[in-house]
Amino acid sequence: MILGIESSCDETAAAVVEDGGRVLSNMIASQHELHAEYGGVVPEIASRAHIERLWPVVRRALEEAAVGIEAIDAVAVGNRPGLIGSLLVGVSAAQALAWALGRPLIGIDHVQAHLHAATMRQRAGGADDAEQRHTATGDEVYPALGLVVSGGHTSLYRVDAPLELTLLGATIDDAVGEAYDKAAVILGLGYPGGPAVDGAAQRGRVGRYELPRSLLGADSLDFSFSGLKTALLYKVRGRPIGRGKEARFERSHADLPDQDRFDLAAAFQEAAIETLMVKLERGIERMSMDGVPPRCLLLGGGVVANSLLRRRAMQLGEVRGVTVRLAPMAFCLDNAAMIAGLAWHRLRRDRAGDGLQLAALSTPHRAPRPARR
Ligand code: KG4
Ligand code: ZN
Repeated sequence: MILGIESSCDETAAAVVEDGGRVLSNMIASQHELHAEYGGVVPEIASRAHIERLWPVVRRALEEAAVGIEAIDAVAVGNRPGLIGSLLVGVSAAQALAWALGRPLIGIDHVQAHLHAATMRQRAGGADDAEQRHTATGDEVYPALGLVVSGGHTSLYRVDAPLELTLLGATIDDAVGEAYDKAAVILGLGYPGGPAVDGAAQRGRVGRYELPRSLLGADSLDFSFSGLKTALLYKVRGRPIGRGKEARFERSHADLPDQDRFDLAAAFQEAAIETLMVKLERGIERMSMDGVPPRCLLLGGGVVANSLLRRRAMQLGEVRGVTVRLAPMAFCLDNAAMIAGLAWHRLRRDRAGDGLQLAALSTPHRAPRPARR
């Protein structure tokens, strides 16, 4: 029974997970309302809100799971990467709890946890525990091709086991979620941007506008989304007059009829998701060439909540004859169930955990990257 804590960005979350796959509670206090007026996360506001919300969220997670705190076998916390002030709140709380309970403390990489969420099953009424246990160890899952798409990360991995990841490619500029958030600002669609653009795109007509797909080199597994964002900016505002900070535009999103903004959102969504699908195809080919064709595609992170991505990924899996596991909706956005779920595998490997000196780190764990071919 593991208590997970997550506070890397603007969600304060706690969860209790049993046996790595049975999610007994998954509490999330979002701070969106605090950051909305700034159009993005303000680190100082986020840290303060984490301090206020963390204990109430932990208490609710224990209540919902109906377990006393003494029943917790280990405390897990997302300790990297993220906003350092936000991470410190979760890590300090987890240290205090682990010390007071005399239980192991486990630090979890937030990005790896997003990927792990794809192997977890959401409880729908009568949970299929047998399936959950199966996917927690997952004989038919590995080797897998993993894609993490969130506000901070766009990375492709070869995954040989829950704790064995090799980085195949990553974004060289914006993360895809970040591009969605910026697209929402450009289109005047509000915050947080991903769901707003997704919703607008569903009302838009595909094909009325064309936006570029940056695929980089012919066999590159890296990503780039800044060109797509700039192309959208020019389509919405027209050509810039002047340069740099002095630049002014012909018009703003407020001058466009709603239908045009929806059509532009649809064009943006097509370009962004198609780019991800091309990279998944290339990843399948790369792993096949390396003699380890993936059995499964694992997709995790906030952007996996996207309606078009979910549909296209399933279609891709069907065409390529590969199983697809999308993170369940409840585990796409930042949550602590994914932290506790992955920690179960750590605890099986290192019974003592990481020790009370666990550090909070703003940088991701460096998954090894194969030499460039
Ligand atoms: O995983 P997450 O909660 O936080 C990070 O680790 O970054 O991901 C948040 C990101 C945001 O950029 C948000 O706009 C995006 O996920 N997102 C979506 C959708 N829902 C959330 N992007 C596209 N379509 C969605 N439906
Ligand atoms: Zn995240």
